[in-house]
Amino acid sequence: MITTDILGLTQKFPTPFYLYDEQTLYDKINELKKYIGKYSESEFLYAVKANHNPHIVEIMVKNGLGIDAVSINEVKVGLLAGCPKEKIMYTENNMSDQEMDEAAELGILINFNSLNRLATFGKKYPGSKVCLRFNPDVGAASHATNITGGPKSKFGIPYQQIEEAKSIAQKYDLKIVGVHQHIGSGWIKLDEPILALNVILKIAKQFKNLEFVDFGGGFGVAYKPTQKPLDLQKLGEYFDQEMKKFNLEYYGNSEQKIKLRFEPGRYPIAESGSLICQITSLKTSPESKIFAGTNTGMNHLVRPAMYGSYHPILNLSNPEGKITAYDIVGNICESADFFAKDRLMPEIRIGDFLEIKIGGAYGSAMSNLYHLRSIPAEILIQTDGSIKQIRKAQTFEEIIEVYNY
Ligand code: LLP
Repeated sequence: MITTDILGLTQKFPTPFYLYDEQTLYDKINELKKYIGKYSESEFLYAVKANHNPHIVEIMVKNGLGIDAVSINEVKVGLLAGCPKEKIMYTENNMSDQEMDEAAELGILINFNSLNRLATFGKKYPGSKVCLRFNPDVGAASHATNITGGPKSKFGIPYQQIEEAKSIAQKYDLKIVGVHQHIGSGWIKLDEPILALNVILKIAKQFKNLEFVDFGGGFGVAYKPTQKPLDLQKLGEYFDQEMKKFNLEYYGNSEQKIKLRFEPGRYPIAESGSLICQITSLKTSPESKIFAGTNTGMNHLVRPAMYGSYHPILNLSNPEGKITAYDIVGNICESADFFAKDRLMPEIRIGDFLEIKIGGAYGSAMSNLYHLRSIPAEILIQTDGSIKQIRKAQTFEEIIEVYNY
């Protein structure tokens, strides 16, 4: 966990900025490898969408993770960070012809989300290897908006259309090397991933000569102090046991083992990152609600506004202050612009620095230039304790440059 003097850093770097702790990142990667990697043929592809900072991507790659990309630029950042192309998969989602061609030229395996895209690809690139993303009819996530499986989801080829998928592949001599699913993001209870593994394995049994089964990502982290963390050990043991049974049935012997891929995004990076900001105003409403206004907003961390997500918040400047309830809000002209409601916190004063925790995943990656405010700088505390700025905040001139004005 971050132990550096963060207040000291605020003297050097203007807030708001994202702060990451490299050691936490290693610890989380190692947890995944240790527990989920119990099945010897497990492979991890880092879901770049959680945090696409090339320095972070490089740490993942150096730790042996492959890349799960969902855009051609995510593919490129993976390559830039040194990931071999064989360890990158591009999960398409309404991909354009141009993206398809670029991926094919780069030699990147595409994971198809629709039958029509599979057919378009097959026509142009017959004989290629492909992966197919199925909708397993099971969804689970921390928030309903993050569910990506089940009949109401736009993702994946409905598993009822397996035969159609096979005949398209046959028509164009496409080699189906993998089957994939992703049921949703942020699950903590084991029931859904267990069920989902069963479903994808059932689907896998309907294909011959697969090289891998891709379980997807979704490993949740406990944002609220009352939440129990995900039981990775138990899940890993379950996966190992199920895969042994699967291999026996699929290959008819106990020597051959299929690869089992995972695409964690949130798990390795979420807890390593925080958004550091400062209090710029305090306001008490006629109902005695106190609004603590910060110099950041939903443009920098949208999760509370978008999903009602909880993030732990520390008052770094006054940790021993009297416990008081606050609505902690941002500097954006939107009523949804908040980080916490009725949060009990040590007394907040103007000028205090706050740490909004567990912001490493889907924080910076989802930030934007709303109100023409720069995306925050990013600072990395390296394992030897040294500080590295891994992103700078744009100046007004840099923001305006793209408008050709
Ligand atoms: N694989 C696929 C195909 C995905 O769609 C996703 C996430 C992942 C892997 C990685 O899932 P993870 O391990 O990070 O849970 N913005 C939301 C999360 C959206 C996730 C979308 N897909 C949030 O802030 O909670």
